[in-house]
Amino acid sequence: MIILGIETSCDETAAAVVKDGRHVLSSIIASQVDEHKLYGGVVPEIASRRHIESIAQITRQAFDQAGVDPGGIDAVAVTHAPGLIGALLAGLNFAKGLSYSAKKPLVPVNHLRGHIAALYLTHQNLEPPFVAFVVSGGHSHLVLVKGYTEFEVMGRAVDDAAGEALDKVARTLGLPYPGGPEISRLAEKGSPTYALPDPHAGGEFDVSFSGLKTAVINIVNSAKMKGEEINKENLAASFERRVVEILSVRLANAASKHNIPAALCGGVAMNTALRQRTHELCAEKGVALYYPHDSFCGDNAAMIGGAGYYEYLAGTTAPLNQNAFASSGLN
Ligand code: KG4
Ligand code: ZN
Repeated sequence: MIILGIETSCDETAAAVVKDGRHVLSSIIASQVDEHKLYGGVVPEIASRRHIESIAQITRQAFDQAGVDPGGIDAVAVTHAPGLIGALLAGLNFAKGLSYSAKKPLVPVNHLRGHIAALYLTHQNLEPPFVAFVVSGGHSHLVLVKGYTEFEVMGRAVDDAAGEALDKVARTLGLPYPGGPEISRLAEKGSPTYALPDPHAGGEFDVSFSGLKTAVINIVNSAKMKGEEINKENLAASFERRVVEILSVRLANAASKHNIPAALCGGVAMNTALRQRTHELCAEKGVALYYPHDSFCGDNAAMIGGAGYYEYLAGTTAPLNQNAFASSGLN
């Protein structure tokens, strides 16, 4: 079964053609990051406009690269939640038009389910159950993946998501957007010499990054006021170490509790320190660890085509009045 995936929830306009939920025939991503960088973060209005301008061309490229045309696909899968509402609507409306004109079913896909399905594109033999930490710019959800379309949220960020905290701290340190990879690069050159809080929040598997973020920002601001120099490399290393510890310990413990594999996904899953530390903890507990290839960690449409396959098999299709939703969990 061949599915066209469309993703426009944030600042990437993406289209992809995926076979049977596992094989990527094409994956085109047009990043708007250079434009948003000028403003230090994503500007929703600009994101929506750019999606509208480029989605048709990006989709054509995805069809061409895969060697199929709209008549050759079985369904159109599109991200309908969660994300920036205007950005989501740009992709959803385009997908509706294509679905109507090509007479193919429309399959609405939750973006977080998409990040989880990215794992299947890299690991052909991976099957549920496993525990996935979806760590992206907007979400930190620890999810028990019971089946391809059956999920239970074990824990989540009670305030800022991990990526959001990384991006905000990076901004305070004068680094460009997106901050995660910048913090990572800086941290590699430093040592974790700064004492930072180890916040606990809510349930056993919930996470909180707001207090940690504020602690780092306070260190930077109070040094500025006193005219003191901070060691940015060491501060980045201290902050990254804390973020990594918070995420990796919970993931390894959750997977070990259920005696099933662990997985990292979402943009933050590209972080080398996070992968390494989670590997160590999982190895100690005898738990296998999976994460997607880098090209499927950040936002992309192949993961939406992949998730769309399983949703379609489960009988999920949408009418042409399907709405988009800015915030939702995995539903
Ligand atoms: O999944 P994603 O591409 O978009 C959302 O759905 O939000 O995640 C973006 C997040 C950003 O916060 C970015 O700073 C972070 O992923 N990120 C990283 C790395 N690469 C991207 N964080 C840490 N280390 C990285 N190497
Ligand atoms: Zn994402």
